[in-house]
Order: sequence, then C-alpha cells, then structure tokens
Amino acid sequence: MIPFFNIKSENDAYAKAYAKELSLFLESGQYILGDAVTTFEREFAAFCGTDFCVGTSNGLDALRLIFEGYKSLGILAEGDEVLVPAHTYIATVLAVIQAGLIPVFVEPKDGSFGMDVNEAQRLTTPKTKACLVVHLYGELIDVEAFQDFAQQYNLLLIEDAAQAHGAVSKKGFKAGAIGDAGAFSFYPTKNIGALGDAGAVTTNSNALEKQIRILQNYGSPKKYTHDTLGFNMRLDALQARFLSVKLNDYQNVLERRLAIASRYTNEIKNVKITLPIHPQDKSHVFHLFVVRVANRTGFMAFLETNNVGSLIHYTTPPHKQKALQDYNSLSLPVTERYHEEVVSIPLYSSLNDAEVQHIIDALNAYS
Ligand SMILES: Cc1ncc(COP(=O)(O)O)c(C=O)c1O
Repeated sequence: MIPFFNIKSENDAYAKAYAKELSLFLESGQYILGDAVTTFEREFAAFCGTDFCVGTSNGLDALRLIFEGYKSLGILAEGDEVLVPAHTYIATVLAVIQAGLIPVFVEPKDGSFGMDVNEAQRLTTPKTKACLVVHLYGELIDVEAFQDFAQQYNLLLIEDAAQAHGAVSKKGFKAGAIGDAGAFSFYPTKNIGALGDAGAVTTNSNALEKQIRILQNYGSPKKYTHDTLGFNMRLDALQARFLSVKLNDYQNVLERRLAIASRYTNEIKNVKITLPIHPQDKSHVFHLFVVRVANRTGFMAFLETNNVGSLIHYTTPPHKQKALQDYNSLSLPVTERYHEEVVSIPLYSSLNDAEVQHIIDALNAYS
C-alpha cells in the first residue's frame, strides 16, 4: 500500500540532524524562546523576503495574532468584516471569529480553487476592513489582482500561507510577502513540517511585529509587566531547531514535489479525472495534489483496491459545520460542489519513482 502520506519516511533523512539539535538544545538550557527561535525567525523572514518573522505556537494562532495585533494597533475593531474564502480549512475562519470579527464567505472561481476576486469585490461593504486570502493546496491566489483590489478598497490583505511555503508569483512575490501579513503552519504534514505544532507570522510592519511579540507572550513587553490581555502562543524552542534543519533542505524537497506534480499533470490522462491547474512558474508548491471526480466514493475505493491511499480535503465546508451554525443556511454552490468532488492523491518528497509510476498507472486505469 502506498500511504497517502508517510510522516516517518519524510523525516528519516533528518534523524541525525535532529539528534544533534536535541543535544544542543539540552546543553543550551534555553527551552522557551531564546537564540534558536530568533535564528529560525531570521532564516524564515529571509526565505520569504519579509523584514520580520515571529514564530508562533501553530498556524491558527499565527492568524489569530495577526488579527489581535491589528486590533491592538487600532487598525481593526470588533465587528469589522473580513472577506474569507468559503473553500478552505476551518482554521482560516476560526481565527476571524475568535478575534471578534465577522467572516464574509467568498466563493472560488469555478474551475480553480482560489478566492474569486470579483466575488470579493461584490461582497465588499463599508464595514469590510480586511481580505484574508488562502493559498489553498499550495497555489498562490491571483496575486496582482488581490493586491490591486485591497489597495483600491483600502483593505488589509492578509495571507493564510499555511500550505504554501516558498510559492512565488511570476512577478517574484513570495507567499507571506504578498500582503500586509502572512500566517504559516508547520504542522508535521506541511511542506515544511515540524515534529509537533508550530507556526509563524511574516510581515514588513515593525509595529505589527512588536505588538504580536507582546501579545504572544502574555501581553508582556517586559518580564512581569502586562499591558494587554495576552496569550501564550510562542514558538517552541526545540521545534525552532528542527525547523531550521528542514528549512535548510527545503529547496531539494520542493524540487522533488514539483517533479512529481509535473509527472502527474503530464501523465495522468483520464477523462473521468479533472486535474488541478498547474501553472508553469513556481506559484504552486503542491502541498496537495487535488483532483476532482464525479463518483468520489467509487474512485477512492478503486484506489484503495489498487494500493493507493487518498484523502479528502475537505469533506464539509466551514459554513456547513455545526460549529458555525450561524452560517449553515448560506448557499455557496461552487464550494459545496467541490466538497463533494475533491480527492487528494499522494504527493510527498520520499515517494520513489516506482511508487509515482504506480499511482499514475492506477489513476489511468480508473474507469
Ligand atoms: C489553510 C490552513 N490554515 C490554517 C491552518 C492551521 O494551522 P495549524 O494546524 O498549524 O494550527 C491549516 C493547517 O492545518 C491550514 O491548512
């Protein structure tokens, strides 16, 4: 069986480097914040091309800290509307609601997975203060269109880049450096995955960076002084060390991922399977390779019989979840249809060529 994802084989290559980091960590005695966190933040800011990076406890907290940071700075206020994609993981929406803001769900353009900028424009009201875009599955949104839109309506442009480490637009804008602030997740299955929970905020705003550092550390600008009702949302120092190891090798990992994605795009030829859009530049880092099929249950059973694992991202859209009861009656037909059709097939750097060929053959044999 080729599993949908193999977390062990993805990390095996780094076992020695991790062991060394663990021993340095023990020697350092710095378990909370400190040099390892600062070093990773510096490296990740340089990687994204932003002035600042603040490591956080996870991706959801990175998003939440961005919104709380802007509220503390007086740039956002409770009750402001935030445009969010309807087709996304629930974390995107939770961050908005938990920060006391109002999510306004925007459909994707039919045929692609990213938020439709024209729909976003149509739903913009005087109460709209921010647009939270998601580079879903690793594919950048239409960068220039959203930058123009945000500028025209004086909106904050915030990126949920949890799935898009290193994606870069034709004009050279990198995920996390496209809008006013970006949120990343380093959940273990992400393109750059920690060995536990971890995340980061990227921004060019010194004011936001400073505010987030205070908020994530109990609202404390200095020890035992608490200016705001803060959180404990710090990046773990041991995870920071592991992440520096992973970041250092990410270019190789990404090349392998893109090579596999290219094979899928070029070699899967089956009229029953709609392949994802595959841009010719590096604006898609293929965190997930998501196909669409009419008979999903049958398709997934066929893959299973042929020893190919698969998963659904995601089975129920956020606005149909019990947790978001206030939004259950919304009708968002493109999103709802996608949630019936999408299937993710295995794509990770430790897949070998024979496995990739097996997956291609299985998809081509589906009828
Ligand atoms: C699009 C998206 N946003 C946010 C998150 C939240 O990240 P985390 O699980 O690190 O909190 C995730 C990952 O799970 C995600 O896929």
